[in-house]
Amino acid sequence: MHKIGVLPCDGVGPEVVAEGLKVMAAAAEAYEVDYELVEYDIGGERYLRTGEVLPDSVMAELGQCDAIYLGAVGHDEVPPGILEPGIILKLRFDFDQYVNLRPIKLYPGVETPLKGKGPEDIDFVVVRENTEGFYAGMGGQLKVGTPDEVAIQTGVYTRKGTERIIRYAFELAQKRDKARQLTMVDKANVLTHGHGLWRRTFAEVAEEYPDITTETAFVDAACMWFVKNPEWFDVVVTTNMFGDIITDLGAMIQGGMGVAASGNINPEGISMFEPIHGSAPKYQGKNVICPVAAICAAGMMMEHLGEVTAAAAIEKAVAAALASGKLGDLSTRSGVKTTEAGDLIASLVE
Ligand code: IPM
Ligand code: MG
Repeated sequence: MHKIGVLPCDGVGPEVVAEGLKVMAAAAEAYEVDYELVEYDIGGERYLRTGEVLPDSVMAELGQCDAIYLGAVGHDEVPPGILEPGIILKLRFDFDQYVNLRPIKLYPGVETPLKGKGPEDIDFVVVRENTEGFYAGMGGQLKVGTPDEVAIQTGVYTRKGTERIIRYAFELAQKRDKARQLTMVDKANVLTHGHGLWRRTFAEVAEEYPDITTETAFVDAACMWFVKNPEWFDVVVTTNMFGDIITDLGAMIQGGMGVAASGNINPEGISMFEPIHGSAPKYQGKNVICPVAAICAAGMMMEHLGEVTAAAAIEKAVAAALASGKLGDLSTRSGVKTTEAGDLIASLVE
């Protein structure tokens, strides 16, 4: 029995989570997956009502779960910088979910803005470091609000943190068994200290994986190649902030935020799965958001829980729905309701 903590949170989060759970239920029924859901009322509304963001009591209960399924975080009436660090980053850090796995895959039937590129060209995975870098929150401010104000925010890179994410990426390149290629994206030409550590670690770990071809790319050039030659990539490993930025670009080339899913993984602990899109408050309650990303995140969660046949069934159903053209252009203007998209995909689970 898998115990899954569900955090729908803000904006359109609850709507897409409902569809992900619908499809998961269909796959679980078909393949006899036993699971229990425990839903938590977390997010902007609770914060405004009680001042609580993610109480220790909820963290303790989530610590008893096998996985966490999250919708989206961000509320119009809560200033930025409270809910994001208080919920998403807290979960990632406290549960040491050091891998942020972000597949960039163009499904047949989905339109990419890249001219002349198709599903055979766009199929790679970004492995984003998820606990260090500029997200570590180290630094401080002086003389705030004065003309002499000083702010320092430091990028944190540890040998341990660097090595474990790079090693995970090498293992993934082997497991995928596609081009057996790993590209490290960094800015080692400028961030000589931190990304120098990444380069050295990459070269050292690479010696243990002689069957994997390695490449390095500066982040600016990588952005160019994501657009110009996405077929060059198989597995990409990168730092926390660069991973954040390049995966929004990746989401666009795979057909939009509506299809981009992610897993925040602690291979030895509790992992969290979420669509990479935000809470889009202006669409809340309108039933217009594409739930495919959240459904794919549920599929990733099933796979992580070892339910590989149920996960494959979800993936196949998503692919079939997208190929059918019945989900339109996956935008909020597609004319397809969130609930209809979920119904269609659930009905296609075999
Ligand atoms: C993401 C998001 C988060 C991040 C925010 C909401 C903190 O943009 O998951 O990519 O920056 O990691
Ligand atoms: Mg982001």
